[in-house]
Amino acid sequence: MIQIKDNKFVLNTKNTTYCFEISDTGHAMHRYYGKRVRFLPNLSDFDVIRQKREFITGNSIAYDKDHQALAMEDECLEISGSGKGDLRSPFISLVFADGSRTVDFIYDSCTLEKGTAERKTLPGSYGEEADVLTVSFVEKYYKVRLNIVYTVYEEENVITRYADLINEGSDPVRVERILSLQLDLPDSGYEGIFFDGAWAREMHSYHTSLAHGMHVSRSYTGTSSNRANPFFMVARPQTNEDRGECFGFNLIYSGNHMEITDANAYGKIRIQSGINEEGFAYILKPGDTFEAPEAVMSFSDSGLNALSHNMHFFVREHIVRGEWKYKDRPILLNSWEAAYFKFDEAKLLKLAKRASDAGIELFVMDDGWFGERDDDTKSLGDWVVNKKKLPGGLSGLADKINKLGLSFGLWVEPEMVNVNSDLYEEHPDWCLANPKRDHSEGRNQRVLDLSRKEVREYIIDTMSRVFSSANIAYVKWDMNRIFSDVYSGSARAGSVIVVDETGTHEVVNEEAISQHQGEVAHRYVLGLYEIMGALTEKFPHILFEGCASGGNRFDLGILCYFPQIWASDNTDPICRAEIQQGYSYGYPLETMGAHVSASPNHQTLRRTQLRTRFAVAAFGSLGYECNLNDFTKEQMDEIKDEIAVYKKYREIFQHGKFFRGGMGPLADLVPISDATSVLFNPTGVGNITEWTIATRYGTKAVGLMLKKLVAPNTQNMRYFPKGLEENTEYHFFNHELTYDIRDFGDLVNTVTPIHVKQDSLLMDLLAKKVKLPAETEDYTAYGSLLMSAGVALKQNFSGTGYNENVRYDQDFSGKLFFIEDVDEEVLKEKGAEATPEPEVTEAELAELAAEAEGENVSSQETVEEEAPAAVENTEEYEITDEESEEAEEEDDNEDDESDEEYEDDEDDSDEEYEESEETDGDNN
Ligand code: GLA
Repeated sequence: MIQIKDNKFVLNTKNTTYCFEISDTGHAMHRYYGKRVRFLPNLSDFDVIRQKREFITGNSIAYDKDHQALAMEDECLEISGSGKGDLRSPFISLVFADGSRTVDFIYDSCTLEKGTAERKTLPGSYGEEADVLTVSFVEKYYKVRLNIVYTVYEEENVITRYADLINEGSDPVRVERILSLQLDLPDSGYEGIFFDGAWAREMHSYHTSLAHGMHVSRSYTGTSSNRANPFFMVARPQTNEDRGECFGFNLIYSGNHMEITDANAYGKIRIQSGINEEGFAYILKPGDTFEAPEAVMSFSDSGLNALSHNMHFFVREHIVRGEWKYKDRPILLNSWEAAYFKFDEAKLLKLAKRASDAGIELFVMDDGWFGERDDDTKSLGDWVVNKKKLPGGLSGLADKINKLGLSFGLWVEPEMVNVNSDLYEEHPDWCLANPKRDHSEGRNQRVLDLSRKEVREYIIDTMSRVFSSANIAYVKWDMNRIFSDVYSGSARAGSVIVVDETGTHEVVNEEAISQHQGEVAHRYVLGLYEIMGALTEKFPHILFEGCASGGNRFDLGILCYFPQIWASDNTDPICRAEIQQGYSYGYPLETMGAHVSASPNHQTLRRTQLRTRFAVAAFGSLGYECNLNDFTKEQMDEIKDEIAVYKKYREIFQHGKFFRGGMGPLADLVPISDATSVLFNPTGVGNITEWTIATRYGTKAVGLMLKKLVAPNTQNMRYFPKGLEENTEYHFFNHELTYDIRDFGDLVNTVTPIHVKQDSLLMDLLAKKVKLPAETEDYTAYGSLLMSAGVALKQNFSGTGYNENVRYDQDFSGKLFFIEDVDEEVLKEKGAEATPEPEVTEAELAELAAEAEGENVSSQETVEEEAPAAVENTEEYEITDEESEEAEEEDDNEDDESDEEYEDDEDDSDEEYEESEETDGDNN
């Protein structure tokens, strides 16, 4: 809701208030952003929050002769220019035709509308019910208009803003900086939480004090980048996951960006984000408009989890669009880490057959299917199927895959070209490169110049041809290099519009080419959006997954077109847990592609259990990326079971409300321990990852506890679920599993009747026959008890004994828990429909719960007691004498160190993964 009175503006969401007013000098002064507050109807109480000043501060500049006490450097401003005494980071920097750089925008008018409008060049958030406020400013001396457009998403507690700059004069204006977000707060006592990283190490959160000086997080890769994600947070130092004040900010943009915090000399802070000014300079011609990307803001007074919920529901409702909005994402198998470039149709089909047997729903053929693409040095740009690998073409393969019961998808990288390609030979001038210089390449490829119309048309045509050449249900859209030598020789950048008696013409102006180079990186992004817009409109059924060497372009701009993004090329679950947790602060889980891959992992060589790999990947859009033909029957059985679990809880994983446990990124500000090691940190900070995803109203939830390293003699652990209803009775249980005796090494000899040598064939044989039962966690309790007291899990293995009631969690162990509303379970057992998620707000629910409590309604009456879950495989194991002798003999014959692979009983596959040449360094 937006309230306007006497040049005062109040923007309210369900739980937050944002307000500003126009001063008598015509400047928009920011007054408050935070927890929702109530104003008097005539807004006269703005007096309370208005900054008071009678005299100028120290040696500050006085704004003008009539406002001797107004020091722009110490005001909270909605937009700021330069040259009028504000020494902080400006919102906008312009150079006018006469060389003047002073910029001073003054209030002109405002409009209020219902529903967002589409922008001409950039994607943005959308909502028919949203309140949209446009505040229009004009430069005091030059004919330039700046519109700041605020959109209020009440339910999600999100406010967005963007800027349109319009040249209403007759001379061009050079735009050196135009940002999107500016939030000036009256004190700087905050920590900033930013996300930096690199390839395979995306979204690493770090925090830094913002109290003094300036902090800049920025990307200059041409993409939003893995170096610095545009999402960031600003929080009071005591804030943790569930308590405290915090702000979250994001940018709907996929190119170079920067996030700035600037504490001034008087203890105030300015928070900004927008297009990175490095290398940016835009010549705004008379009559033209420059659209700056939309910035997203949210506030929570109850910790980072609540802030993330605002962001998640906003992304789901107001960013992701089209058919895939709220639609279940299929479980996929991707061929990349299973085969790299080395495949043919037979190999793919064999893989697909395995996938289909396991319950996988979509088969994705990754890189290597076109031109002569046997490695990463050639053929990008030549989107013609390689008939040697796929004699029946894409449709031949797709039909066969479909017959196996799977849908079919493929990989493309349309924005790139290898010099070694037909496309480059034909159009060497189509890439971003300066013909006078040696070009610095990345992954042996160049970036196509998307600022050129003919290049955009080529990509749209070629991709349209590929996407309609077979039954294609999914496309992985990759982008594998960062920008260098940014230079466009294009007509677009250097064109001028000439109007003469024969009409309007676009004429290349060689001289102008040099002046427009500062626009190229931005025009590239605009070109990309045009292409993505055209193709997603043309192929609405296709599920597009964005990718840029993993997470080098994970942002809201991409999510406006593609509903999910491959989060990282790193599929190691221990790294992935940190990466996915990083994304989870700003993006909902279903936007992250997450795959189960081989062990040892191809990026880290770390060995982890299948169940850990699954447990982490399940908290995302699940896929598999490994050669299933090399998996044993036992492993395939486990995969089938896990896929069934994911399908059962898919709705929660992909559309639920996600909570991080623990204390969050600011944990190390709180003195919790003198210990120097994460292992001995009693809070588990840094060593334990604890997640819960619940249905929006808490009827069901799934939890994860992931341990990085074993801490000796830490017997007891508690798991604290979140997002449940306090007064609902739940059944809490763990994912049934068994332990492999090989994990106990020669400790098995303490219970075996004969000696079993560690790593021997006898041990393998024994392991096939005997599974050790794992601990069962099975409880019934109210949500309030589960959430506040936590669930005391079974005792950890600590070297003093083992039975089926001991948790055995070695290094890198991840386990899942399930929490279900008892009433729903009972209903289901009786064959009745489960209660649908209530169509009421959380506040209404809370009221109902309170009412129910008053009437002392107990759900227990209807609940039958649960029988304790049976412990599996408790029977004694037996090995016949012959088996034992046979194995011992084999052991003697073989090398004692034998570590032969398990044979898959049903599988006749003898194919081995042998990709060392290809995987060497080029798998990004
Ligand atoms: C990038 C992607 C990978 C894979 C390869 C193929 O590295 O991130 O997932 O698709 O390209 O070349």
